[in-house]
Amino acid sequence: MKVLVTGSSGLIGSEAVEHFDRQGHEVFGVDNNMRSVFFGAAGDTLWNLKRLKNACKRFTHAALDIRDRPAIDELFASQRFDLIVHCAAQPSHDKARDIPLLDFEVNALGTVNLLEATRQHCRDAVFVFLSTNKVYGDAPNEIPMTEMETRYDYARAEDYNGVDETCRIDRTLHSLFGASKAAADLVAQEYGRYFSMKVGVFRGGCLTGPSHSSVELHGFLSYLVKVTLTGGRYTVYGYKGKQVRDNIHSRDVVRAIEEFAANPRPGEVYNLGGGRANSISMLEAIARIEQLTSRKLDWHYAEEARKGDHICYISNLRKFQTDYPKWKITRSLDAILEEMVAAQRAQQLHSAAR
Ligand SMILES: NC(=O)c1ccc[n+]([C@@H]2O[C@H](COP(=O)([O-])OP(=O)(O)OC[C@H]3O[C@@H](n4cnc5c(N)ncnc54)[C@H](O)[C@@H]3O)[C@@H](O)[C@H]2O)c1
Repeated sequence: MKVLVTGSSGLIGSEAVEHFDRQGHEVFGVDNNMRSVFFGAAGDTLWNLKRLKNACKRFTHAALDIRDRPAIDELFASQRFDLIVHCAAQPSHDKARDIPLLDFEVNALGTVNLLEATRQHCRDAVFVFLSTNKVYGDAPNEIPMTEMETRYDYARAEDYNGVDETCRIDRTLHSLFGASKAAADLVAQEYGRYFSMKVGVFRGGCLTGPSHSSVELHGFLSYLVKVTLTGGRYTVYGYKGKQVRDNIHSRDVVRAIEEFAANPRPGEVYNLGGGRANSISMLEAIARIEQLTSRKLDWHYAEEARKGDHICYISNLRKFQTDYPKWKITRSLDAILEEMVAAQRAQQLHSAAR
């Protein structure tokens, strides 16, 4: 196959590049390092691009901007892709309020540019779009909850496995990020349903892994590990630190993409996260990371919650697992955290040696 990965220097994009390269496919990556524009030096992804160039055999990269329609059209005219894994994005809920136009251009316009180029040049290709659980806005907060010692949880037995794809996406507070991703999510579904193209939409919970250029505004677990190991102060925003996230390793995300690509269901939408087993609250994550690193995190509590933040979000994985029964979560939360701690320590040693 010829695979196009957008956002190829990011967390999910780089995992996809490595995976499909290992499988013997030809992989073309597009990433203009815009993460460093959104988040400054800590968001710079060039280290990851360098790593991919060394690690991969059939990887070509271009620093194209997905907003640049003529450049994207030219790329698609010159290559015939079989699979498009679209991961490039402005990925932060909070950052979007400072850059609403840029956020919308990258997330919504960039996505339709890629979908239309696919339709014009390789309409039989499989197109996977990485969407987000923020398309549900704060509707998941309407689920009855109980407050426990270290976390909030769903109060009713029928909600135990988390939020499924029937949750409504309108009449809710999304953040501008959630709205630009919802626009892209709907357009992607439409290319699947209206044009019968092989488009799949994955609504991510917290996607994690060692290759994140994590910053305070994006990459929750990875950033928490970074601050615990390198020092600095961490702020927990609202809900007494009992807000819950489910976390999925980038490898399991890419395995889901691979399963969909092998047997695509046009226009289908799936929630994709770590599920209940990989869920953790802020307080629990801090305690676990302190235990793993034998270090104390310097953190403080800010009463005001992030606007539109989820109180307890667990992805219900039943729909994807029913359609793709070979797929399962392979990385436990502990394994994810241990790998992150090791990666952060290795990075510190590397920096110290330079
Ligand atoms: N990480 C998460 O917790 C999470 C959760 C839900 C959904 N998602 C979605 O998954 C996808 C991948 O997320 P990630 O965590 O790998 O993000 P990331 O920021 O690590 O990777 C995105 C990459 O896209 C690149 N990029 C941004 N704008 C670009 C542009 N205009 N042209 C070309 N490249 C551009 C960035 O430089 C970056 O390397 C995104 O769509 C994100 O919204 C992520």
